[in-house]
Amino acid sequence: MAGAAKEHQKKKKLYIKTWGCQMNVYDSKRMADVLRPMGYEAVDEPDNADMMVLNTCHIREKATEKVFSELGRLRKHKDRRTEEGKETLMAVAGCVAQAEGDVITDRAPYVDLVFGPQTYHELPQMVNGVTGELDGQRAINTDFPVESKFDFLPQEETEASGPSAFLSVQEGCDKFCTFCVVPYTRGAEFSRPVEQIIVEAKALVKAGAKEIQLLGQNVNAYHGEGSNGKEWGLGALIKELACRVDGLERIRYTTSHPRDMDDELIQAHGDVPQLMPFLHLPVQSGSDSILKAMNRRHKADLYRRIIDQLREARPDIALSSDFIVGFPGETEDDHKATLDLIDYVRYAFVYSFKYSARPGTPAATMSDQVLEAIKDRRLQELQAMVNQHQREFNQATVGQVFPVLFEREGRDETQIHGRSPYMQSVHVQGNQRLIGEIVPVKVTTAYANSVSGEIVQFELEKTRAAE
Ligand code: 5AD
Ligand code: SF4
Repeated sequence: MAGAAKEHQKKKKLYIKTWGCQMNVYDSKRMADVLRPMGYEAVDEPDNADMMVLNTCHIREKATEKVFSELGRLRKHKDRRTEEGKETLMAVAGCVAQAEGDVITDRAPYVDLVFGPQTYHELPQMVNGVTGELDGQRAINTDFPVESKFDFLPQEETEASGPSAFLSVQEGCDKFCTFCVVPYTRGAEFSRPVEQIIVEAKALVKAGAKEIQLLGQNVNAYHGEGSNGKEWGLGALIKELACRVDGLERIRYTTSHPRDMDDELIQAHGDVPQLMPFLHLPVQSGSDSILKAMNRRHKADLYRRIIDQLREARPDIALSSDFIVGFPGETEDDHKATLDLIDYVRYAFVYSFKYSARPGTPAATMSDQVLEAIKDRRLQELQAMVNQHQREFNQATVGQVFPVLFEREGRDETQIHGRSPYMQSVHVQGNQRLIGEIVPVKVTTAYANSVSGEIVQFELEKTRAAE
């Protein structure tokens, strides 16, 4: 009956623009999940949308200004529809909404809804509020509610999000690195119970996912209620997913903190075949005094030992990291210590940033800020070294054959794009019907940020014969 009622409901267009990390990508998809029973279906363009959501990120510089310029652009669609007598809801969600909700409602009074990352499970009530009994009033919802939104989100109803799906298992952060806004926008650490995660993972696989990327601001600080009622770490969760979710062929997790790499998790890299040989483990700096000023609460040497242990457990593991150059007080020696650490690890991939002050964080008011020109030079030095390692990493895979999960069309319809177990971007000439499949590929050419290769025909023919 309820289903029939839903079918008769008029379809409404929902446009969501997502900025920032994978957590935001996951949140946007879940917003669509909670709005679907109200008749909203996701569209790729804002033209004629009944509802437009900006899911925002606060981590980058000038984040708020970017939101206002996008709002200005989208407002034209709303105004045009208003002239035609049609209603369009405009919403700002995510971390900028959380941190600057008041500023948004002051400067953009045409925005109908403002809500943070912890309250979007209440979207149906918020939408009914602004369109119904509270007509004309704006809803602002930037609480950190005591109940978990995950208990209110649909667990078994989620649409396919392609062969590689995100699944949020942990949220928030209690680490308070002195440069970072996350603890202020995402709130305190929270871990979902294992059984809830298993249900969602099964639903994602049923909807077509072959790979699941477990997400959390501090994913390896995961300490959810286990299947036996005791608290489990991320290593135990990964093993459980690998055992109980049929059809789940690949598991990844991000983002991790070095202090939370415990033995069980490191060992899982050796023991669980579905756990891919790739880890993003941000260290930010290789200097002990800068790590201390950043409040990272570990030394560079501990990080080196973790890398050694990971390589012992899984010798071919590929590593990536985030680095910040020019943190307040960073000297040439500190910078050199960072380059030494990079040289030790030889990353397959690195994200590097110039330090930039985020209002409200402790580092923003530290006295010894580094000159912009020095930051520029240090960033260039770091990137030159990293690029060299990255090329070497890709080059070393030439001639190897490994399984690639194809995720999407490439530059044209004769090309397809996928990921190697090491998270490399892989391009091949191949049929679109292989999208969603894991296929053996021989790497033929290496580039700075990707590789290209050929599908290994022999293996493919074997699979076809078996079908
Ligand atoms: N300045 C520069 N980079 C930053 N990051 C976070 N905050 C700042 C900042 N204030 C970087 C860190 C983090 C990544 C997601 O963004 O390297 O790991
Ligand atoms: Fe930010 Fe540090 Fe928490 Fe990562 S661990 S989210 S960098 S405060």
